[in-house]
Amino acid sequence: MYGRRHRVIVDVALGARTYPIYIEAGLIDNAAAVIMPFVRGGRLAVVTDSNVAALYLDRFAAGLPGVALAPIVLPPGEGTKDWQHLQLVVERLLALGVERSDAVVALGGGVIGDLAGFACSVLRRGCRFVQVPTSLLAQVDSSVGGKTAINAAAGKNLVGAFHQPAAVLIDPQVLATLPPRELRAGYAEVVKYGLINDADFFAWCEAHGASMLAGDTAAQTHAIAHCCRAKAAVVAADERETDDIRALLNLGHTFGHAFEAAAGFSDLLLHGEAVALGMALAHRFSARRGLCSPADAARVDAHLAAAGFVIRPAALGLDTNAADLVHHMRQDKKMSGGTLPFILSRRLGNSFVARDVAIQDVGDFLADELLASGVD
Ligand code: NAD
Ligand code: GLY
Repeated sequence: MYGRRHRVIVDVALGARTYPIYIEAGLIDNAAAVIMPFVRGGRLAVVTDSNVAALYLDRFAAGLPGVALAPIVLPPGEGTKDWQHLQLVVERLLALGVERSDAVVALGGGVIGDLAGFACSVLRRGCRFVQVPTSLLAQVDSSVGGKTAINAAAGKNLVGAFHQPAAVLIDPQVLATLPPRELRAGYAEVVKYGLINDADFFAWCEAHGASMLAGDTAAQTHAIAHCCRAKAAVVAADERETDDIRALLNLGHTFGHAFEAAAGFSDLLLHGEAVALGMALAHRFSARRGLCSPADAARVDAHLAAAGFVIRPAALGLDTNAADLVHHMRQDKKMSGGTLPFILSRRLGNSFVARDVAIQDVGDFLADELLASGVD
Protein backbone atom coordinates (compact mmCIF):
# COMPACT_ATOMS: atom_id res chain seq x y z
CA MET A 1 0.00 0.00 0.00
CA TYR A 2 2.85 2.36 0.85
CA GLY A 3 5.19 1.65 -2.05
CA ARG A 4 8.42 3.56 -2.47
CA ARG A 5 6.92 6.37 -4.53
CA HIS A 6 3.57 6.48 -2.78
CA ARG A 7 3.11 10.00 -1.46
CA VAL A 8 0.50 11.07 1.07
CA ILE A 9 -0.16 14.81 1.24
CA VAL A 10 -1.99 16.29 4.22
CA ASP A 11 -2.73 20.02 4.21
CA VAL A 12 -2.71 22.07 7.38
CA ALA A 13 -5.51 24.46 6.44
CA LEU A 14 -4.66 27.91 7.73
CA GLY A 15 -5.92 30.19 4.98
CA ALA A 16 -3.05 32.02 3.29
CA ARG A 17 -0.62 30.15 5.58
CA THR A 18 -1.85 26.69 4.55
CA TYR A 19 1.03 24.27 4.16
CA PRO A 20 1.50 20.67 3.02
CA ILE A 21 2.80 17.68 4.93
CA TYR A 22 4.41 15.24 2.48
CA ILE A 23 4.72 11.64 3.70
CA GLU A 24 6.74 9.44 1.37
CA ALA A 25 9.28 6.63 1.72
CA GLY A 26 12.62 7.73 0.29
CA LEU A 27 11.89 11.46 0.55
CA ILE A 28 15.12 12.07 2.47
CA ASP A 29 17.06 11.11 -0.69
CA ASN A 30 14.71 12.75 -3.17
CA ALA A 31 13.62 16.04 -1.68
CA ALA A 32 14.31 18.20 -4.74
CA ALA A 33 10.74 18.40 -6.03
CA VAL A 34 9.44 19.78 -2.73
CA ILE A 35 12.53 21.65 -1.49
CA MET A 36 13.66 23.46 -4.66
CA PRO A 37 10.82 26.02 -4.55
CA PHE A 38 12.26 27.14 -1.19
CA VAL A 39 15.85 27.50 -2.40
CA ARG A 40 17.05 30.97 -3.33
CA GLY A 41 20.48 31.81 -4.72
CA GLY A 42 21.51 28.15 -4.79
CA ARG A 43 22.00 28.03 -0.99
CA LEU A 44 20.08 26.40 1.82
CA ALA A 45 20.77 26.58 5.57
CA VAL A 46 20.10 23.32 7.40
CA VAL A 47 19.90 23.10 11.19
CA THR A 48 20.47 19.57 12.44
CA ASP A 49 22.13 17.58 15.23
CA SER A 50 25.28 15.52 15.02
CA ASN A 51 23.50 12.14 15.12
CA VAL A 52 21.17 13.03 12.27
CA ALA A 53 23.90 14.83 10.33
CA ALA A 54 26.09 11.71 10.37
CA LEU A 55 23.25 9.60 9.01
CA TYR A 56 21.32 11.85 6.66
CA LEU A 57 22.98 15.16 5.79
CA ASP A 58 24.96 13.81 2.83
CA ARG A 59 21.96 11.87 1.56
CA PHE A 60 19.72 14.93 1.84
CA ALA A 61 22.35 17.01 0.01
CA ALA A 62 22.75 14.38 -2.72
CA GLY A 63 19.05 14.73 -3.52
CA LEU A 64 19.49 18.46 -4.09
CA PRO A 65 22.04 18.73 -6.90
CA GLY A 66 23.27 22.28 -7.49
CA VAL A 67 22.31 23.44 -3.99
CA ALA A 68 25.08 24.45 -1.56
CA LEU A 69 23.96 23.35 1.88
CA ALA A 70 25.08 25.43 4.86
CA PRO A 71 24.77 23.01 7.78
CA ILE A 72 24.52 24.16 11.39
CA VAL A 73 25.22 21.00 13.38
CA LEU A 74 24.29 21.03 17.07
CA PRO A 75 24.78 18.54 19.90
CA PRO A 76 21.91 16.04 20.21
CA GLY A 77 19.55 16.06 23.18
CA GLU A 78 17.07 18.17 25.11
CA GLY A 79 19.89 20.30 26.56
CA THR A 80 20.31 21.89 23.13
CA LYS A 81 16.92 23.61 23.41
CA ASP A 82 18.44 26.46 25.40
CA TRP A 83 19.35 30.16 25.12
CA GLN A 84 22.94 29.43 24.20
CA HIS A 85 22.09 27.29 21.19
CA LEU A 86 19.29 29.65 20.15
CA GLN A 87 21.82 32.47 20.05
CA LEU A 88 24.28 30.31 18.16
CA VAL A 89 21.72 29.36 15.51
CA VAL A 90 20.43 32.91 15.08
CA GLU A 91 23.96 34.35 14.80
CA ARG A 92 24.96 31.67 12.27
CA LEU A 93 21.85 32.28 10.17
CA LEU A 94 22.54 36.02 10.20
CA ALA A 95 26.17 35.42 9.27
CA LEU A 96 24.98 33.26 6.37
CA GLY A 97 22.87 36.19 5.21
CA VAL A 98 19.57 34.34 5.53
CA GLU A 99 16.78 36.74 4.65
CA ARG A 100 13.10 36.83 5.52
CA SER A 101 12.04 35.25 2.27
CA ASP A 102 14.61 32.46 2.58
CA ALA A 103 13.65 29.14 4.10
CA VAL A 104 15.74 27.28 6.66
CA VAL A 105 15.51 23.49 6.94
CA ALA A 106 15.13 21.84 10.36
CA LEU A 107 16.45 18.31 9.86
CA GLY A 108 16.09 16.22 13.01
CA GLY A 109 13.88 15.36 15.94
CA GLY A 110 11.65 17.58 18.02
CA VAL A 111 14.60 19.31 19.68
CA ILE A 112 15.93 20.58 16.36
CA GLY A 113 12.46 21.42 15.03
CA ASP A 114 11.51 23.40 18.13
CA LEU A 115 14.83 25.24 18.34
CA ALA A 116 15.25 25.98 14.63
CA GLY A 117 11.59 26.96 14.35
CA PHE A 118 11.96 29.41 17.22
CA ALA A 119 15.17 30.82 15.72
CA CYS A 120 13.29 31.36 12.44
CA SER A 121 10.41 33.05 14.26
CA VAL A 122 12.73 35.76 15.56
CA LEU A 123 15.24 35.98 12.70
CA ARG A 124 14.61 39.36 11.06
CA ARG A 125 11.18 39.16 12.80
CA GLY A 126 10.40 35.90 11.05
CA CYS A 127 11.76 33.86 8.16
CA ARG A 128 10.32 30.72 6.61
CA PHE A 129 11.34 27.22 7.61
CA VAL A 130 10.73 23.69 6.42
CA GLN A 131 10.46 20.81 8.85
CA VAL A 132 12.17 17.54 7.91
CA PRO A 133 11.40 15.50 11.04
CA THR A 134 13.46 12.35 11.55
CA SER A 135 12.18 10.97 14.87
CA LEU A 136 8.78 9.32 15.27
CA LEU A 137 7.81 11.94 17.84
CA ALA A 138 8.61 14.75 15.44
CA GLN A 139 6.88 13.01 12.51
CA VAL A 140 3.61 12.49 14.36
CA ASP A 141 3.50 15.64 16.44
CA SER A 142 6.14 18.29 16.93
CA SER A 143 6.88 19.14 13.27
CA VAL A 144 3.23 20.01 12.61
CA GLY A 145 1.39 22.95 14.09
CA GLY A 146 3.98 25.66 14.58
CA LYS A 147 4.72 25.43 18.29
CA THR A 148 8.38 26.38 18.67
CA ALA A 149 10.31 26.89 21.89
CA ILE A 150 13.35 26.54 24.06
CA ASN A 151 13.47 25.55 27.72
CA ALA A 152 14.21 28.01 30.53
CA ALA A 153 15.59 27.45 34.00
CA ALA A 154 12.01 27.66 35.31
CA GLY A 155 10.71 24.93 33.03
CA LYS A 156 10.12 23.35 29.68
CA ASN A 157 9.13 25.24 26.50
CA LEU A 158 8.59 28.44 28.50
CA VAL A 159 10.15 30.70 25.85
CA GLY A 160 8.76 30.31 22.38
CA ALA A 161 6.42 31.38 19.62
CA PHE A 162 3.76 30.08 17.29
CA HIS A 163 5.48 30.03 13.92
CA GLN A 164 4.13 27.68 11.27
CA PRO A 165 6.49 25.89 8.89
CA ALA A 166 6.15 26.40 5.15
CA ALA A 167 6.11 22.63 4.55
CA VAL A 168 6.79 19.35 6.36
CA LEU A 169 8.65 16.48 4.66
CA ILE A 170 8.34 13.08 6.31
CA ASP A 171 10.26 10.01 5.23
CA PRO A 172 9.13 7.07 7.40
CA GLN A 173 12.17 5.03 6.30
CA VAL A 174 14.50 7.13 8.45
CA LEU A 175 12.89 5.56 11.51
CA ALA A 176 14.94 2.44 10.75
CA THR A 177 17.96 4.10 12.35
CA LEU A 178 16.13 5.62 15.32
CA PRO A 179 17.25 3.98 18.59
CA PRO A 180 14.47 1.69 19.92
CA ARG A 181 14.07 3.77 23.08
CA GLU A 182 13.47 6.91 20.98
CA LEU A 183 11.03 5.04 18.73
CA ARG A 184 9.04 3.99 21.79
CA ALA A 185 9.13 7.53 23.18
CA GLY A 186 7.56 8.77 19.93
CA TYR A 187 4.97 6.01 20.14
CA ALA A 188 3.56 7.67 23.27
CA GLU A 189 2.43 10.59 21.10
CA VAL A 190 0.85 8.13 18.64
CA VAL A 191 -1.21 6.54 21.41
CA LYS A 192 -2.16 10.04 22.56
CA TYR A 193 -4.20 10.61 19.38
CA GLY A 194 -6.31 7.57 20.25
CA LEU A 195 -6.81 8.56 23.86
CA ILE A 196 -7.83 12.11 23.03
CA ASN A 197 -10.85 11.42 20.84
CA ASP A 198 -10.44 8.28 18.77
CA ALA A 199 -11.11 5.00 20.57
CA ASP A 200 -10.89 3.11 17.27
CA PHE A 201 -7.35 4.36 16.76
CA PHE A 202 -6.45 3.32 20.31
CA ALA A 203 -7.73 -0.15 19.43
CA TRP A 204 -5.55 -0.01 16.27
CA CYS A 205 -2.59 0.79 18.55
CA GLU A 206 -3.42 -2.18 20.75
CA ALA A 207 -3.45 -4.39 17.65
CA HIS A 208 -0.46 -2.92 15.76
CA GLY A 209 1.68 -1.07 18.31
CA ALA A 210 4.02 -4.01 18.84
CA SER A 211 4.73 -4.39 15.12
CA MET A 212 5.23 -0.63 14.80
CA LEU A 213 7.81 -0.76 17.55
CA ALA A 214 9.43 -3.78 15.90
CA GLY A 215 10.01 -1.70 12.76
CA ASP A 216 7.04 -2.51 10.53
CA THR A 217 7.24 0.37 8.03
CA ALA A 218 3.67 -0.08 6.75
CA ALA A 219 2.29 0.19 10.28
CA GLN A 220 4.53 3.17 11.03
CA THR A 221 3.47 4.94 7.85
CA HIS A 222 -0.20 4.30 8.58
CA ALA A 223 0.22 5.75 12.08
CA ILE A 224 2.17 8.78 10.85
CA ALA A 225 -0.45 9.63 8.24
CA HIS A 226 -3.28 9.11 10.73
CA CYS A 227 -1.63 11.30 13.38
CA CYS A 228 -0.73 14.04 10.87
CA ARG A 229 -4.33 14.16 9.63
CA ALA A 230 -5.59 14.33 13.21
CA LYS A 231 -3.12 17.03 14.18
CA ALA A 232 -3.73 19.05 11.01
CA ALA A 233 -7.46 19.09 11.81
CA VAL A 234 -6.83 20.20 15.39
CA VAL A 235 -4.41 22.95 14.36
CA ALA A 236 -6.76 24.19 11.63
CA ALA A 237 -9.58 24.40 14.19
CA ASP A 238 -7.63 26.00 17.03
CA GLU A 239 -4.20 27.17 15.92
CA ARG A 240 -3.38 29.14 19.07
CA GLU A 241 -4.95 26.81 21.64
CA THR A 242 -7.72 29.21 22.56
CA ASP A 243 -10.80 26.98 22.17
CA ASP A 244 -10.08 23.86 24.25
CA ILE A 245 -9.46 21.90 21.05
CA ARG A 246 -5.68 22.04 20.64
CA ALA A 247 -5.32 21.88 24.43
CA LEU A 248 -6.36 18.21 24.24
CA LEU A 249 -2.99 17.49 22.61
CA ASN A 250 -1.51 18.24 26.03
CA LEU A 251 -3.00 15.04 27.43
CA GLY A 252 -0.44 13.66 29.89
CA HIS A 253 1.85 16.64 29.44
CA THR A 254 1.20 18.53 32.69
CA PHE A 255 1.96 15.42 34.73
CA GLY A 256 4.73 14.49 32.32
CA HIS A 257 6.48 17.87 32.37
CA ALA A 258 6.61 17.75 36.18
CA PHE A 259 8.46 14.42 36.04
CA GLU A 260 10.72 15.67 33.25
CA ALA A 261 11.61 18.65 35.44
CA ALA A 262 12.21 16.34 38.41
CA ALA A 263 14.57 14.34 36.18
CA GLY A 264 16.38 17.56 35.26
CA PHE A 265 15.31 17.28 31.58
CA SER A 266 17.89 14.54 31.30
CA ASP A 267 18.10 11.18 29.57
CA LEU A 268 16.67 9.63 32.74
CA LEU A 269 13.25 10.36 31.28
CA LEU A 270 12.67 11.21 27.62
CA HIS A 271 9.82 13.56 26.72
CA GLY A 272 7.72 10.78 25.19
CA GLU A 273 8.32 8.53 28.19
CA ALA A 274 7.11 11.34 30.44
CA VAL A 275 4.01 11.77 28.24
CA ALA A 276 3.26 8.04 28.51
CA LEU A 277 3.55 8.15 32.30
CA GLY A 278 1.47 11.34 32.29
CA MET A 279 -1.30 9.76 30.19
CA ALA A 280 -1.45 6.78 32.56
CA LEU A 281 -1.63 9.18 35.53
CA ALA A 282 -4.29 11.34 33.85
CA HIS A 283 -6.49 8.27 33.39
CA ARG A 284 -5.91 6.94 36.91
CA PHE A 285 -6.63 10.42 38.31
CA SER A 286 -9.79 10.56 36.17
CA ALA A 287 -10.89 7.19 37.55
CA ARG A 288 -10.18 8.37 41.12
CA ARG A 289 -12.48 11.35 40.48
CA GLY A 290 -15.22 9.08 39.14
CA LEU A 291 -14.85 10.36 35.59
CA CYS A 292 -13.66 7.43 33.51
CA SER A 293 -14.04 3.84 34.69
CA PRO A 294 -11.23 2.02 36.48
CA ALA A 295 -11.45 -0.50 33.63
CA ASP A 296 -10.62 2.21 31.07
CA ALA A 297 -7.67 3.40 33.16
CA ALA A 298 -6.48 -0.19 33.50
CA ARG A 299 -6.72 -0.66 29.71
CA VAL A 300 -4.53 2.41 29.17
CA ASP A 301 -2.05 1.14 31.76
CA ALA A 302 -1.98 -2.29 30.15
CA HIS A 303 -1.22 -1.00 26.66
CA LEU A 304 1.45 1.47 27.77
CA ALA A 305 3.11 -1.13 30.01
CA ALA A 306 3.02 -3.69 27.17
CA ALA A 307 4.78 -1.13 24.97
CA GLY A 308 7.52 -0.98 27.59
CA PHE A 309 6.72 2.33 29.29
CA VAL A 310 7.11 2.96 33.01
CA ILE A 311 3.60 3.77 34.21
CA ARG A 312 4.26 3.97 37.99
CA PRO A 313 6.13 7.05 39.29
CA ALA A 314 7.86 5.02 41.99
CA ALA A 315 9.47 2.84 39.32
CA LEU A 316 11.36 5.84 37.94
CA GLY A 317 13.53 5.96 41.05
CA LEU A 318 13.62 9.77 40.98
CA ASP A 319 14.53 11.74 44.09
CA THR A 320 11.29 13.75 44.18
CA ASN A 321 8.07 14.16 46.13
CA ALA A 322 4.53 15.42 45.54
CA ALA A 323 5.33 18.97 46.72
CA ASP A 324 8.22 19.27 44.25
CA LEU A 325 6.09 17.90 41.42
CA VAL A 326 3.29 20.37 42.19
CA HIS A 327 5.87 23.16 42.28
CA HIS A 328 7.00 22.17 38.77
CA MET A 329 3.37 22.11 37.60
CA ARG A 330 2.83 25.65 38.84
CA GLN A 331 5.44 26.79 36.29
CA ASP A 332 3.27 25.49 33.46
CA LYS A 333 2.53 27.94 30.62
CA LYS A 334 -1.16 27.20 31.03
CA MET A 335 -1.38 28.46 34.64
CA SER A 336 -4.03 31.17 34.68
CA GLY A 337 -5.24 33.03 37.76
CA GLY A 338 -3.61 30.43 39.98
CA THR A 339 -5.43 27.46 38.44
CA LEU A 340 -4.15 24.92 35.98
CA PRO A 341 -6.30 23.16 33.39
CA PHE A 342 -5.83 19.38 33.29
CA ILE A 343 -6.70 17.09 30.42
CA LEU A 344 -8.80 14.31 31.93
CA SER A 345 -10.86 11.48 30.50
CA ARG A 346 -14.59 10.68 30.62
CA ARG A 347 -13.95 7.36 28.94
CA LEU A 348 -11.37 5.84 26.68
CA GLY A 349 -11.04 8.10 23.63
CA ASN A 350 -12.99 10.94 25.21
CA SER A 351 -10.67 13.47 26.84
CA PHE A 352 -11.64 16.96 27.93
CA VAL A 353 -10.19 20.07 29.52
CA ALA A 354 -11.00 20.16 33.25
CA ARG A 355 -10.74 23.59 34.84
CA ASP A 356 -12.06 22.68 38.27
CA VAL A 357 -9.15 20.61 39.53
CA ALA A 358 -7.70 21.82 42.83
CA ILE A 359 -3.95 21.48 42.56
CA GLN A 360 -3.95 20.11 46.14
CA ASP A 361 -6.02 17.14 44.91
CA VAL A 362 -3.35 16.49 42.29
CA GLY A 363 -0.69 16.72 45.01
CA ASP A 364 -2.56 14.20 47.19
CA PHE A 365 -2.93 11.88 44.21
CA LEU A 366 0.76 12.10 43.38
CA ALA A 367 1.73 11.46 47.01
CA ASP A 368 -0.33 8.25 46.90
CA GLU A 369 1.15 7.32 43.52
CA LEU A 370 4.69 7.82 44.78
CA LEU A 371 3.98 5.55 47.75
CA ALA A 372 2.52 2.84 45.53
CA SER A 373 4.74 0.00 44.42
CA GLY A 374 6.67 0.55 41.21
CA VAL A 375 5.96 -3.03 40.22
CA ASP A 376 2.85 -3.95 38.22
P1 NAD B 1 15.24 14.61 19.85
O1 NAD B 1 15.10 15.67 18.86
O2 NAD B 1 16.20 14.77 20.96
O3 NAD B 1 15.57 13.27 19.06
C1 NAD B 1 15.77 12.09 19.78
C2 NAD B 1 17.15 11.47 19.51
O4 NAD B 1 17.06 10.73 18.31
C3 NAD B 1 18.29 12.45 19.34
O5 NAD B 1 19.45 11.89 19.91
C4 NAD B 1 18.45 12.54 17.82
O6 NAD B 1 19.77 12.86 17.45
C5 NAD B 1 18.10 11.15 17.42
N1 NAD B 1 17.54 10.97 16.08
C6 NAD B 1 16.55 11.71 15.50
N2 NAD B 1 16.21 11.16 14.34
C7 NAD B 1 17.00 10.06 14.16
C8 NAD B 1 17.09 9.06 13.16
N3 NAD B 1 16.26 9.03 12.11
N4 NAD B 1 18.01 8.10 13.31
C9 NAD B 1 18.83 8.07 14.41
N5 NAD B 1 18.78 8.98 15.40
C10 NAD B 1 17.85 9.96 15.27
O7 NAD B 1 13.84 14.26 20.57
P2 NAD B 1 12.37 14.05 20.02
O8 NAD B 1 11.81 12.98 20.84
O9 NAD B 1 12.35 13.94 18.55
O10 NAD B 1 11.68 15.43 20.38
C11 NAD B 1 11.50 15.81 21.73
C12 NAD B 1 11.28 17.30 21.78
O11 NAD B 1 10.11 17.63 21.04
C13 NAD B 1 11.07 17.83 23.18
O12 NAD B 1 11.88 18.94 23.39
C14 NAD B 1 9.61 18.23 23.20
O13 NAD B 1 9.35 19.30 24.08
C15 NAD B 1 9.38 18.60 21.77
N6 NAD B 1 7.98 18.53 21.35
C16 NAD B 1 7.48 19.61 20.69
C17 NAD B 1 6.18 19.57 20.24
C18 NAD B 1 5.64 20.73 19.45
O14 NAD B 1 4.44 20.75 19.16
N7 NAD B 1 6.46 21.66 19.05
C19 NAD B 1 5.38 18.44 20.45
C20 NAD B 1 5.93 17.36 21.13
C21 NAD B 1 7.24 17.42 21.57
N1 GLY C 1 2.13 18.97 20.94
C1 GLY C 1 1.07 19.83 21.39
C2 GLY C 1 0.62 20.78 20.35
O1 GLY C 1 1.16 20.84 19.28
O2 GLY C 1 -0.29 21.53 20.59
